[in-house]
Amino acid sequence: MGNLIDIKGVTHAYKTKSGPFPVLRDLNISIPEGSFCAVVGPSGCGKSTLTRLIAGLMFPDQGEVWLHGELVKSPRKTVGMAFQNPVLLEWRTILHNVMLPLEIVAPTMPRAQKEARARELLALVGLEGFENKRPSELSGGMRQRASLCRALVHKPDIIILDEPFGALDAFTREDLWQTMHQLREKEPFTALLITHDLRESVYLGDQVVVLSGRPATTQYVMQVDIPGPRPLEMLYRPDSIQRLATLRREIQIAQGREVA
Ligand SMILES: Nc1ncnc2c1ncn2[C@@H]1O[C@H](COP(=O)(O)OP(=O)(O)O)[C@@H](O)[C@H]1O
Ligand SMILES: [Mg+2]
Repeated sequence: MGNLIDIKGVTHAYKTKSGPFPVLRDLNISIPEGSFCAVVGPSGCGKSTLTRLIAGLMFPDQGEVWLHGELVKSPRKTVGMAFQNPVLLEWRTILHNVMLPLEIVAPTMPRAQKEARARELLALVGLEGFENKRPSELSGGMRQRASLCRALVHKPDIIILDEPFGALDAFTREDLWQTMHQLREKEPFTALLITHDLRESVYLGDQVVVLSGRPATTQYVMQVDIPGPRPLEMLYRPDSIQRLATLRREIQIAQGREVA
């Protein structure tokens, strides 16, 4: 069907001492191959749970998660992940941190080839010359760049980004948004981004999915049919302002707040 990800009618509850705790309810999301899906929703609604279901780290009570035409029934090596707190290993250099997924997914790949691949990505995100530094020697934004390289190095089917830019200052964040567009242009990938930043969702997303409050269901889907790489100025144009207003209203509904 051309979709890389198909989340169909996914319902899930955590089992807790006080009984089932419903988190997702009849959730539906389709992500075409090569496209970028941004997901926004109230805090605690089930966004990170969704990422774990896609990665095959958990399985839904009801419904199905399809990845590349296969039902997800076990953990997926073909998923790259990056989080708000880049979990880089301090005892490894930046280069060796980025090479790590290749050691796991492609153990027979010659070391020189792994290294060349990691260096290529690091150069793409502007980290040439920092390959031999340790994570603590880099700024937060640089660590997040390295973390993106690590998520992409093994050419995963999909890269899942769970609020990766949330802890960065506004200017660093905007730099990284632009880097995402540059990366996509050089090396197309499919992405699911969890964010609480509506501007980020509109700037990066080909579609923006608004989840309802918990248990989260697909409340609203917005297509953003603007080819990349997108200029940051795009966010100040009337069409973007209109999109942001619509999303803000949807988030208020998701939060159960009255809409004026
Ligand atoms: N392993 C778990 N067991 C029980 N409850 C959980 C577990 N993981 C998350 N939750 C609860 O499920 C809800 C959704 O969590 P999460 O998916 O992390 O939300 P989000 O990422 O949208 O903030 C939250 O209320 C959270 O406390
Ligand atoms: Mg979360």
